[in-house]
Amino acid sequence: MSGKQVLVTGACGEIGQVLVQELSKKGGYRIVTADMMSLPDSIKNLSAEHVQGDLVYKIKTFYDYDFDIIFHLAASLSSKAEIATEEAHRINVEGTMQLLMLAAYRSEKYKKAVKFLFPSSIAAYGMPSLEAKHSAGAVKEEDWDNPHTMYGCNKLYCEKLGTYYSKYYGQKHLDEKPPVMLDFRALRFPGLISAFTLPSGGTSDYGPEMLHAAAQGKPYSCFVRADTKISFMAMPDAIKSLLMIMDAPREKLTANVYNVAAFALTADEFRQRAVKAFSKARITFEPNPRRQGIVDSWPEDVDDSLARADWKWKPDYDVDRFFDDYFLPEIRKRYGK
Ligand code: SER
Repeated sequence: MSGKQVLVTGACGEIGQVLVQELSKKGGYRIVTADMMSLPDSIKNLSAEHVQGDLVYKIKTFYDYDFDIIFHLAASLSSKAEIATEEAHRINVEGTMQLLMLAAYRSEKYKKAVKFLFPSSIAAYGMPSLEAKHSAGAVKEEDWDNPHTMYGCNKLYCEKLGTYYSKYYGQKHLDEKPPVMLDFRALRFPGLISAFTLPSGGTSDYGPEMLHAAAQGKPYSCFVRADTKISFMAMPDAIKSLLMIMDAPREKLTANVYNVAAFALTADEFRQRAVKAFSKARITFEPNPRRQGIVDSWPEDVDDSLARADWKWKPDYDVDRFFDDYFLPEIRKRYGK
């Protein structure tokens, strides 16, 4: 098949599955997938080739491919990373470094910039206190970049590494023309919510877990306080933002790292929406101090005006549309409620 060759790592994850489906719908791509797991049925027939195993050990395989675009989604999320910190660093940083080196090598050798798309996170921020979190409101990319978690440190550092390979890598050739460098584009995602899959290992997971439990009439004990507020986004908007930034002309981009936002709400506002939609929902709050601390260090909301100005980003789903037009209809179909 002709078209652009794309690598999607972490293809079996929540973002990966929908991204592969949407790339395939868009057409014109040969999609190579990579993951620790074998492909789920949802994308089995959409991947031209699947490389199963640990990316760090499989990297040599990828030097045989001519990738135009890399979506590097594989990661160990924030709660899991806090339990197995060194392992998280290996997955989140070494895996990214290996792929960046591959993309840098190919860009330089074939004089064609490989596009490198990287999902970063609100975990890159670190608010020093609840007072600072409340008064800061929606934060800009360059502020409060003092993560409190291994995952956040990993994401922030990989943003810097990607930017380095994209802008400064040629410094070794001081007296020559700089080489063609890779084209690194990162999005700082809020908590993502899909109607089709559940996250695992993250700390914003209470949002989707609560809603999926309510839809099934199962009790849910929320691991953060009712007043906990962070920003969230519908999965289709996350995919839309990734495809938009993939297609954005480089000259329009004034940054390598962009916030993307949709709606911010408290855990109690989630509960109220869940109870209104599913009368059998039983939701209680039993904060886990460790996970509460992580979410307290994340901003209440993010300012995505740079993405809106540079590449016309705009989410399709505000909070009402998220519930009424996406989540509730899909989840009712899924659980038959
Ligand atoms: N959703 C992620 C997590 O909770 C944050 O990027 O770890």
